[in-house]
Amino acid sequence: MFVRNAWYVAAWAHEITRAPLARAILGEDVVLYRRDDGVAAALEDRCCHRHLPLSFGTVVGDNLRCGYHGFSFDASGACVDIPGQKQIPPQARVKSFPVVERWKWIWIFMGDPALADPAKIPDLWWADHPEWKLSRPAMVPLNCDYRLIADNVLDATHLAFVHATSIGGGGLTEVEPLVEVDDNCVRVSRWVLNQPPPPMYKKAGGFDANADRWAFVEFKPPFVSVNFAGCVDVGFGGPDGDLKASKRRVELVAISLPTPATATSCNYFFGFARAFAHDDPEVDRMFGEVMVDVFREDFVILEAQQKSMTARPDAPQVGTVNDRASFLARRMVDRLIEAERAS
Ligand code: FES
Ligand SMILES: [Fe+2]
Repeated sequence: MFVRNAWYVAAWAHEITRAPLARAILGEDVVLYRRDDGVAAALEDRCCHRHLPLSFGTVVGDNLRCGYHGFSFDASGACVDIPGQKQIPPQARVKSFPVVERWKWIWIFMGDPALADPAKIPDLWWADHPEWKLSRPAMVPLNCDYRLIADNVLDATHLAFVHATSIGGGGLTEVEPLVEVDDNCVRVSRWVLNQPPPPMYKKAGGFDANADRWAFVEFKPPFVSVNFAGCVDVGFGGPDGDLKASKRRVELVAISLPTPATATSCNYFFGFARAFAHDDPEVDRMFGEVMVDVFREDFVILEAQQKSMTARPDAPQVGTVNDRASFLARRMVDRLIEAERAS
């Protein structure tokens, strides 16, 4: 049901401390904590003794001690202490998962640990780069299939209806997108030239007239979507435009990482990186709060959609040309799942 041999986001790096954190990931219960040296660790959240979740326990040194009868487990999942007993049976252990801290997130590999190559962690460098400032909203748990989020992000026609008063408008939906696919990416690009900028960009960039606007999305399976969006003065946009030469420029990257918790729920990690007005508290508020409100407009839709789908899972859906990108994205994910099954 999920691609397992891939890195997913388990948590924001700042969420993982010396206090154990419980989180469902790909249908499994996981507990995360930091060892004495600050390195993050992830174990199955179920003690091998009487199955109390280890997240009820306490971190002592590098180990996690169960909150019931005090078994201690090291970061590899091996039991290293049983109170009142000298012998530790070899089967006294819990599963451990490879974790890597990168781009301000803790990445976890839920599949075959032998395939956990950190070089395969998606490159999201904007999240941790001096020229870009990341606004860091909290993680949002959502009651929907994680794939509904890529569907949403890849189909910008919803902007005109769901986000009419924030980032919608300005003729975005009238422009037919360019959809491209390669081995590991679905890319959707739209340029909207010489149109009124949407209300939020107008305010953030001080636009007083029409603007050239872009909206690109890249999806990389199984779960990463990155939106590249912004606008510049008329004449500086378009595929051959010189964005940096424009007097006004709003340029942002929205990173969207919905890690599946179960088949119908996910933990949604997202953030906005921007390459302008780093020191402007009003712009900080715009990306830390106003944009989060824009995303909330989607959350209502996604959860209602899931409820309706769960009620009638076999009800037919009608496809349109605008569904092409999400269709291709889903097919990419399905192929990876099939390949894992076959091996
Ligand atoms: S349930 Fe964990 S030590 Fe008994
Ligand atoms: Fe949206």
